[in-house]
Amino acid sequence: FQPKVLRGKRIVITAGPTFEPIDPVRGITNRSSGKMGFAIARAAREAGADVHLVAGPVALPTPRGVLRTDVGTAQQMLDAVQSSVPGSDVFIAVAAVADWRVDGVADQKLKKTGDSDVPSLSFVQNPDILATVARLPNRPYCVGFAAESEQLESFGEAKRQRKNIPLLAGNLGPSTFGQDDNEIILFDAQGMTRLPRADKLALARQLVAAIAARLPG
Ligand code: C5P
Repeated sequence: FQPKVLRGKRIVITAGPTFEPIDPVRGITNRSSGKMGFAIARAAREAGADVHLVAGPVALPTPRGVLRTDVGTAQQMLDAVQSSVPGSDVFIAVAAVADWRVDGVADQKLKKTGDSDVPSLSFVQNPDILATVARLPNRPYCVGFAAESEQLESFGEAKRQRKNIPLLAGNLGPSTFGQDDNEIILFDAQGMTRLPRADKLALARQLVAAIAARLPG
């Protein structure tokens, strides 16, 4: 049994990787499975929220009762988020958004030419979706994720402050990518809360409860 702690709340969640094209057939992505974001969408829905899940390319079924928009690139994810966020109560950025995209995506498939001829790619920075939402004047309650490979306790709080958000969920990654369980430390202005290793749905339910407890009003 789950109490409906988010009844009447509208929540926007990003999940999964992004896919940044190189040409019409190739692209750059990452190993995010989307499992954590989808588990949070399910848990938020179970808690009574109206949930909009903006998902990069993943192979996961849509949680029951959740509205889903599929996107490819970081820019498309930002566009979907920006049109959905006004009027929402909570934004949870779980997606592993590509930091860079290819500058000048080729219109046609790049051709293999001579034996030693290789293309070179240059990159431009992608927008930071979480930071963009966190700067909005009437921003929803913003929750970020951070995968750190070391020193999670100090890097996590620093990232929360740098991103200017009230709550950050840190995990020691990227070893958690694709796994069914995870281990999280929550960082907020009051300090750290450890959520011991558990399956992602159990952690998602604890995170939803933690968010509900921190919402104003
Ligand atoms: O700075 P870093 O990428 O580690 O921050 C991770 C957090 O920021 C995650 O919540 C992620 O979803 C979000 N993010 C984003 N847009 C980006 C990069 C990260 O929303 N371009």
